[in-house]
Amino acid sequence: MAKKSVTDLEVAGKRVLVRVDFNVPLDGQTITDDTRIRAALPTINYLTEHGAKVILVSHLGRPKGGPSPEFRMDPVAKRLSELVTAKVTKLDDCIGPEVEAAVAAMSPGDIILLENSRFHAGEEKNDPELAKKLASLADVFVNDAFGTCHRAHATTEGVTHYVSESAAGFLVQKELDVLLKAIQEPVRPLVAILGGAKVADKLSVIENLLKIADKLIIGGGMAYTFLKAQGYEVGASLLDASKVEWCGQVLERAKAMGKPLLLPVDVVAAREFKADAETRIVPASSIPEGWQGLDAGPETTALFVKALEGAGTIIWNGPTGVFEMEPFAKSTRAIAQAMANSPAITIIGGGDSAAAVTQMGFADQMTHISTGDGASLELMEGLELPGVAALTDK
Ligand code: 3PG
Repeated sequence: MAKKSVTDLEVAGKRVLVRVDFNVPLDGQTITDDTRIRAALPTINYLTEHGAKVILVSHLGRPKGGPSPEFRMDPVAKRLSELVTAKVTKLDDCIGPEVEAAVAAMSPGDIILLENSRFHAGEEKNDPELAKKLASLADVFVNDAFGTCHRAHATTEGVTHYVSESAAGFLVQKELDVLLKAIQEPVRPLVAILGGAKVADKLSVIENLLKIADKLIIGGGMAYTFLKAQGYEVGASLLDASKVEWCGQVLERAKAMGKPLLLPVDVVAAREFKADAETRIVPASSIPEGWQGLDAGPETTALFVKALEGAGTIIWNGPTGVFEMEPFAKSTRAIAQAMANSPAITIIGGGDSAAAVTQMGFADQMTHISTGDGASLELMEGLELPGVAALTDK
């Protein structure tokens, strides 16, 4: 069902609580990638320009059991204040008398950034008391935290029960438009590339994409469990022994459906998991004992790139090798390059593949790079996101 947009709200002079996903990577107090902050600017700027009093709330990291200095929002406040014209006031809590007083003193166009919502245990428990207190700060609620929409937390879901109206911000709308279209009514053929380390993280995604994609490419660490299911020796490669049978069933099903499911045919195997390890290119069917596959081999890379030709839509989640180490980045780079050159709608499903594409300089050439990892995976599983479901219907 269609949800209200921030543009459907009367915001002039109103207190607008905005859930953003400012869960950015940090090296100490330095933000190493500010994409998520910049991605929220259209909503923040729209609200300040329309005279709203903007109260931003986000989590940062996974603090355990209360406030911890390394997860304070101060570096985020500093970066945000460089990106907006309004003054950003950062507070040291997300609820309580000091927050209430600061909000009461706001003028239209002001921005307050609340402290990390996960400093309160009630956030992840979706505690109604915390949700009520947050809601009492605002007249209306906007969710622009796409990356956190798969979490039913107090700031994403709970709060919607205690405000008069809840709407999607521009980032949430854009992500949903692109990702839902790609899986519900894609420009075909739809080719899905899945990689990353753990097959267990993507079982439901594989199940769903097997149904909706025209072609499935499986690479990265998760491919070795599929290779094992084919009866191959995978040496010391990543293997989830508990999922071998499941992978075998998926391969059977793909065959019965007549759906192409591509796996590596050769791999770059290494003696050790390190950048300067001794390497060999070996057939995927016989990785020697003690060697681990860390990248797709040249034949596989060519096969995967060829499989993208003629695609109408390409969705990619998960690198096909350990791209963080240069000797094992070749297949991931070749796929990124092929997607960049492709006339297809190209979608990067967040997380490590987004980092790879950005780091390799192809970000501008993709149709869409999701700011959500878990959230975009849940959409690809065909699930409804609780943070979206809770918004007010149009
Ligand atoms: C993310 O980085 O995927 C989101 O911010 C959600 O964070 P979480 O996995 O800690 O809930």
